[in-house]
Amino acid sequence: MPTKAWGGRFGAATDKTVEAFTASIHFDQRLAPYDIAGSIAHAQMLGKCGILSRAETGAIVAGLKEIHDEIVRGEFKIDPALEDIHMHVERRLIEKIGALGGKLHTARSRNDQVALDLRLFLRDVIRKIRTGILELQAVLIGQAEAHVETILPGYTHVQRAQPIVLAHHLLAYFEMFQRDRERFADCLGRVNLLPLGAGALAGTPFPIDRHYVAKLLGFAGVLANSEDAVADRDFAVEFLAAGAIFAMHVSRLAEELVLWASAEFGFIELPDAFATGSSIMPQKKNPDVAELARGKTGRVYGALIGLLTTLKGLPLAYNRDLQEDKEPVFDAADTIRGLLAVLIPMLAAVTFRKDRMRAAVADGYLNATDLADYLVTKGVPFRSAHEIVGRIVRHGIEKGRRLEELPLSVLRRFSPAFRADVARHLTLDGCVARRQSFGGTSPARVAEALKTARRALRRP
Ligand code: ARG
Repeated sequence: MPTKAWGGRFGAATDKTVEAFTASIHFDQRLAPYDIAGSIAHAQMLGKCGILSRAETGAIVAGLKEIHDEIVRGEFKIDPALEDIHMHVERRLIEKIGALGGKLHTARSRNDQVALDLRLFLRDVIRKIRTGILELQAVLIGQAEAHVETILPGYTHVQRAQPIVLAHHLLAYFEMFQRDRERFADCLGRVNLLPLGAGALAGTPFPIDRHYVAKLLGFAGVLANSEDAVADRDFAVEFLAAGAIFAMHVSRLAEELVLWASAEFGFIELPDAFATGSSIMPQKKNPDVAELARGKTGRVYGALIGLLTTLKGLPLAYNRDLQEDKEPVFDAADTIRGLLAVLIPMLAAVTFRKDRMRAAVADGYLNATDLADYLVTKGVPFRSAHEIVGRIVRHGIEKGRRLEELPLSVLRRFSPAFRADVARHLTLDGCVARRQSFGGTSPARVAEALKTARRALRRP
């Protein structure tokens, strides 16, 4: 048997540098279980359509199952001369069952085979990622439930802006992750289609049944155009785009954890098991996990841009450039699953420091908007009310007084519209409780939002 499956046309051996340069086995071996599952379905279809005899089909399928077990047991031998996982499995099959193994590749090409393997891999990974995101959302809800009345500053420009409740803040992340879960589901719909049967690019003269293969492998449908089937990697780009957006969300959350764990904020206490120390400063407790989560986002963006760049300008149909699709997809999949694995338990174990949040919200005139809103309820146009309260805040800063510490007589020097009921308007609890607009931070609204969130969790 020639060393190369395609060796027939060649008079000289492949240069070693070419072998090393073109081989993908060192990374595509992780596609082995999918390659074998796809091959078994293909063989069964060839049998059903009378392209292989019943006995041939049985021998090929049995051989493939044995190879699968060898791989699971770690006994499968890798040979860089065999390029990729597809050639390895085929070669092993021929070793085991003889020349009959060579019939497996009837009506198939590595071009449709590799597209199939990557789709099967991504289908698995996306399902696992969606389950992980669901767990992360459940942790956010769990933490939020304990903090429907915990008040902290809400920020714009990293400046204290208006009081909010912590549950509301956590539910903002819940919303982001809900969209991520939807995006991955949407992308799964386009991943879960069968490319096999496209052959090298043009289809095959054999009387195959692609829909039968799709059914055996649990695909929702069959790709309609054979050239598109072997050339398309949109599904991988979409996976990376959904992953990049998810990682961006994780990075934003991680950044808040880093800030909140600092002495300057002190809003959270990281669990010891999820913090790290310094090799020189004995007092340090560092948020390295959150920092790395923020940092690893770059890898996922890189994978997305890398694959888009690989695909740009490729003529139809298959080109070897497409072999470059796998490493970014694997790396992003591993990174995303790694982020979920550590973030879920860490977030569940974070302690929120109500005392520090309350202290931060008391300073900084966070009820200034409410004072202006009060004047509006007394008929003052908002723009004038804003101006009046601005002057009151300046006065408060000069005197070292909070708004609620200024006597009514002083307030009335700025506007005659102030009455005794203004005091009620300035409490922090009043400030959050009044924000009852749909989607607002009032504890009553947030309790409703929590119910809706819990229902969203129950949807798959
Ligand atoms: N290792 C190749 C890849 O990853 C498999 C397909 C190779 N096809 C070919 N005609 N050389 O894309």
